[in-house]
Amino acid sequence: MVGLGASVPDRCIWADGTPKRPDRIVWNLPAGKYSIATHHCSGCVICVYQVMRDFHHRPARRPEDNHRVNVLQNPVTLAVMTDDTTLALTGERTVPGIPEENYWFRRHEVAYEFILERCRGRDVLEAGSGEGYGANLLSTVAGSVTCVDYDESAVAHTRARYPHVRIEQGNLIDLPLPDASVDVVVNFQVIEHLWDQDKFIAECARVLRPGGELLISTPNRITFSPGRDTPLNPFHTRELSGAEMTELLVGGGFTVDRMLGVHHGPRLTQLDDKWGGSFIDAQIQRALSGEPWPTDLTADVAGITTADFSILEPDIDASLDLLAIARRS
Ligand SMILES: C[S@@+](CC[C@H](N)C(=O)[O-])C[C@H]1O[C@@H](n2cnc3c(N)ncnc32)[C@H](O)[C@@H]1O
Repeated sequence: MVGLGASVPDRCIWADGTPKRPDRIVWNLPAGKYSIATHHCSGCVICVYQVMRDFHHRPARRPEDNHRVNVLQNPVTLAVMTDDTTLALTGERTVPGIPEENYWFRRHEVAYEFILERCRGRDVLEAGSGEGYGANLLSTVAGSVTCVDYDESAVAHTRARYPHVRIEQGNLIDLPLPDASVDVVVNFQVIEHLWDQDKFIAECARVLRPGGELLISTPNRITFSPGRDTPLNPFHTRELSGAEMTELLVGGGFTVDRMLGVHHGPRLTQLDDKWGGSFIDAQIQRALSGEPWPTDLTADVAGITTADFSILEPDIDASLDLLAIARRS
């Protein structure tokens, strides 16, 4: 199981360096990426980069970020408990096997199931493989699967738990693969984390064989961060709408064959009604309250399966996540 707490920093600043009143930060996991999207000090660069550094035990990614990290005064203290076979839940990636995380896990997993047959017999790169469960599933049908992720603990975990999956630690904007070496690139719930999305798309075009497919899923900005064009989630750099995703792909030399959306199916719609209009908000509220979850909420979350989501073409702006199927021209 996972428990996580953070102390209050002694000063907070906005991105332009002006002071910000320190808010209380509460990280109550598991609640997937949403717990981060709603943390209390979202505008503060110190909080954001402190969390990034302490979660990942690595320097920040841009020279200006290193400067920000160096001015930190009061490191957040974190405690993450997990067993040997479960990758610690940090908010940056979902993991299987944690009942309270199950809604987010299944919402990610459904995209892998949807594209499984497209990968049959093909050489697949999973760009940003996280815990490794998706690559494990793809490996049941693909000709070959290679994973790239830059997180040391995720890479070590994947190697230990899924030893048949080939994984390399690397940055997606500089893929450690030769030109024209794969048929499919799978990139699920990652592009919103990247500092240079255009460079990543260019790298996909480089490593794909002519006619190869790029499959991308990502939270739909319109429903994930309503009314905002800058993400609250400190792991996200830029979230996309369906139109913005299309523009990014076409600009990078891809043809978008299909733009699909992940939606709640009938049972999740019933759970939305049962939990006051939003099953997601009910989970967030309980996570942020610091109280133990009610037994029936835990049971409802633990009972979700991928069949409770629908993947549809119409009404893309109302979808929860986007799923783009694009082809290298
Ligand atoms: C939200 S997780 C998604 C993992 C997996 N695809 C899934 O759907 O469960 C995002 C992953 O991207 C990785 N990542 C983020 N930026 C990266 C980069 N620049 N290079 C390589 N991996 C990166 C993170 O370490 C993390 O494992």
